[in-house]
Amino acid sequence: MLKIEKLTVVTDSKEILKDFSLTINDGETHVIMGPNGVGKSTICRTLLKDSNYDVTEGSIFYNGKDLSELSTTEISRMGMMMISQSPIAIEGVTNAEMLRLALSERTGEHIDIFKFSKEAKAICEKISLPESFLHRDINNGMSGGERKKNELLHVWMLKPNFLILDEVDSGLDVDALKIVANSIKEYQSETNCSILLITHNPKLLEILKPDYIHILKDKRIVQTGDASLAEIIEKTGFKDVSGEKVLERNLENE
Ligand SMILES: Nc1ncnc2c1ncn2[C@@H]1O[C@H](COP(=O)(O)OP(=O)(O)OP(=O)(O)O)[C@@H](O)[C@H]1O
Ligand SMILES: [Mg+2]
Repeated sequence: MLKIEKLTVVTDSKEILKDFSLTINDGETHVIMGPNGVGKSTICRTLLKDSNYDVTEGSIFYNGKDLSELSTTEISRMGMMMISQSPIAIEGVTNAEMLRLALSERTGEHIDIFKFSKEAKAICEKISLPESFLHRDINNGMSGGERKKNELLHVWMLKPNFLILDEVDSGLDVDALKIVANSIKEYQSETNCSILLITHNPKLLEILKPDYIHILKDKRIVQTGDASLAEIIEKTGFKDVSGEKVLERNLENE
């Protein structure tokens, strides 16, 4: 599904990632952890071709297609979607308008308004989002937690096959976190989508049960492990732990 090889990413004349490689297969959940400012959001934004980030070396293939030849719109139509760390508000465009247009763009078909409305309302109920949100401007005036749920509505409606969740837990209270995490889990088991997750939240990890945890440090992934690696990081933090030490401790525990 996604193959990133020896990637170098530069923003504002600064090299953020170098020799960054990662492969994610269909239906897998991968977590990237690392200290603040290490480049986690950078990799997410690079995948969706944010023009602030230049790939100067290496390659990204998504469903067999070279991302360097595709636009954000094309990548999105292929099924990649991100819930960003701070979802932006778009004034003057309602959720319903955007979703109907996006669905008809993707399918090339006219969207039946009654069918659309029924499905959207059912999803709102499922994720505890008031139906009135369908007719609100995208994320406009919504609290941090409401924005995350609103983005989750987009996920269920647009049905991505590759989902990027950049700190989806930020802004969510304990109950909302459970609703969002369980809903993502349900979405993944229904669709077999792949997930790239940026988080350090133990509850989210417990619910989503990732296949792999990667530690991003010194511009690249220095260590890959299973869920136990997250527990080690939870206890020790990143500051005093080099990639090699994580490896030692990880092996000791096995
Ligand atoms: N558009 C940009 N212009 C200038 N610098 C940038 C830009 N985007 C990212 N950076 C810098 O790149 C580095 C990595 O940022 P990034 O947002 O990827 O970190 P992160 O690992 O997601 O951190 P956090 O855990 O705080 O979310 C930071 O030093 C940041 O200031
Ligand atoms: Mg970030």
